[in-house]
Amino acid sequence: MVYAALSVVSLLFAGSLQFQFKHHNNDELAQVLQDVNNRCPNITRIYTLSETSVLGLPLYFIEFSTKPGHHEIMKPEFKYIGNMHGNEVLGRELILKLADYLCEQYMASNPNIQALIEQTRIHLMPSMNPDGWQLATDTGGKDYLIGRTNNNSFDLNRNFPNLDRIMFTNEENHLDHNNHLLEQLTRLKEPLQPETKAVIRLIMQIPFVLSANLHGGDLVANYPYDESRSGMPQHEYSETPDDETFRYLALAYSSHHEDMANPRRRGCGEADSAGFAKEGGITNGAKWYSLAGGMQDFNYLSSNDFEITLELGCKKYPPATELEHEWERNRDALIHYMWQTHIGIKGIVYDSVSKRGISNAVIHVKNVTRGPFQDIQHDVTSVHDGDYFRLLTPGQYRVTAYKDGYLPHSRMVSVTNPFHSPAQRVDFALKPISVPPYVRIQSNNFVDAKLDNKYETLQDSWNNWINTNREPIAVQ
Ligand SMILES: *[C@@H]1O[C@H](CO)[C@@H](O)[C@H](O)[C@H]1NC(C)=O
Ligand SMILES: *[C@@H]1O[C@H](CO)[C@@H](O)[C@H](O)[C@H]1NC(C)=O
Ligand SMILES: *[C@@H]1O[C@H](CO)[C@@H](O)[C@H](O)[C@H]1NC(C)=O
Ligand SMILES: [Zn+2]
Repeated sequence: MVYAALSVVSLLFAGSLQFQFKHHNNDELAQVLQDVNNRCPNITRIYTLSETSVLGLPLYFIEFSTKPGHHEIMKPEFKYIGNMHGNEVLGRELILKLADYLCEQYMASNPNIQALIEQTRIHLMPSMNPDGWQLATDTGGKDYLIGRTNNNSFDLNRNFPNLDRIMFTNEENHLDHNNHLLEQLTRLKEPLQPETKAVIRLIMQIPFVLSANLHGGDLVANYPYDESRSGMPQHEYSETPDDETFRYLALAYSSHHEDMANPRRRGCGEADSAGFAKEGGITNGAKWYSLAGGMQDFNYLSSNDFEITLELGCKKYPPATELEHEWERNRDALIHYMWQTHIGIKGIVYDSVSKRGISNAVIHVKNVTRGPFQDIQHDVTSVHDGDYFRLLTPGQYRVTAYKDGYLPHSRMVSVTNPFHSPAQRVDFALKPISVPPYVRIQSNNFVDAKLDNKYETLQDSWNNWINTNREPIAVQ
């Protein structure tokens, strides 16, 4: 029986379906991914997250890579997540079409797409909130709010642990610590929803470098921080240490979208909205409006990932007839943005004696472009085999790799970011210190003792943390 049922399924999906521009329901979503996987089996993998949605639907991802299922050394990882607000549906359809397009173009030997997939591990999640999508769709997709939340009425883009507050407190106390802050979290404001928990676990497991979170209701590329320092609800620019890089990333999307950066286009109705176009189609999150518990800031403050939030259009639920045109308007931007995973530098931090890679080394950057050295107070860490990725805009930098038990090593780097090319390679050979521990490495950036753990151990402790902080799900 089981065998028969399985073969029916594979028969159904064996043939290639022509991609249709329409609103794919939750079953059809899975079918599109399966079809892409059938057509491109050696460069794709479908996986589901550790949790299901509240109503029990699987949370699907499709991965594109030349080695599906594996992090490859020095190959940066990227993700798009769509439909986190269930009634904001364009991102979901764009991501499905993007999966279809990447497969088709790879097979057709499009050199740009082949190079992108050969050099990047790409993860695509069409829907983070399939329950909300169903409710929005069942009620006609007309309402500004119905279907926005998950089925427990939680707004998933307010449900992430608020690491901004921890970071703001660190700032007030003149502590430089501004990265990998999840371990400093002691309590949650509200229970973690299954959809949130599943994505947090993924963020902790996969060493993402860049991502975007796809929404609707306006047309703008929004970058961190989303939360204001003072608590002001609007108009307060909340700058990250990587402000220059985030603006560059947001502009990479807006300027390749047909209309987002067009200064003559109309706004979406709100007073502020028309102003976005005059800024190049980008905005700082808190300057627009402040929010706590968003996914974007969580990525930046808990991991090495840089994330922006894309508002893809005035209509949250555009009619199916507009989807093809929306794809045309967004296609180049979606591809060009993925290439930004390669800006800046990457390389390997390794032990100069054993030649082995060093995970959890801290990469600290000073900007030395014109004028005095300026520390960029947001460090990234090396991952499994000592490989690291540091997004940067063109300029001159002094980059230092630190690890307890080793002498730090600094190198001067000139970043140029050639178009659609892999990041410049900069390796660090760290010399072990064989003298007693009273010889401490002096650095002006914060090196948390916990970072000495192996990357995997750190992941485990975070996973445990997520599990032990499991709280009862609110009952309606
Ligand atoms: C995947 O398969 C296609 C078609 O058979 C082939 O051209 C391509 O080189 C393969 N790619 C990888 C990464 O195996
Ligand atoms: C949860 O799902 C049920 C069944 O589809 C639906 O009737 C209800 O309105 C949903 N609740 C929320 C808050 O989405
Ligand atoms: C580096 O400093 C220069 C000069 O102050 C500035 O224009 C540029 O935006 C800075 N770059 C970064 C990545 O902060
Ligand atoms: Zn939204």
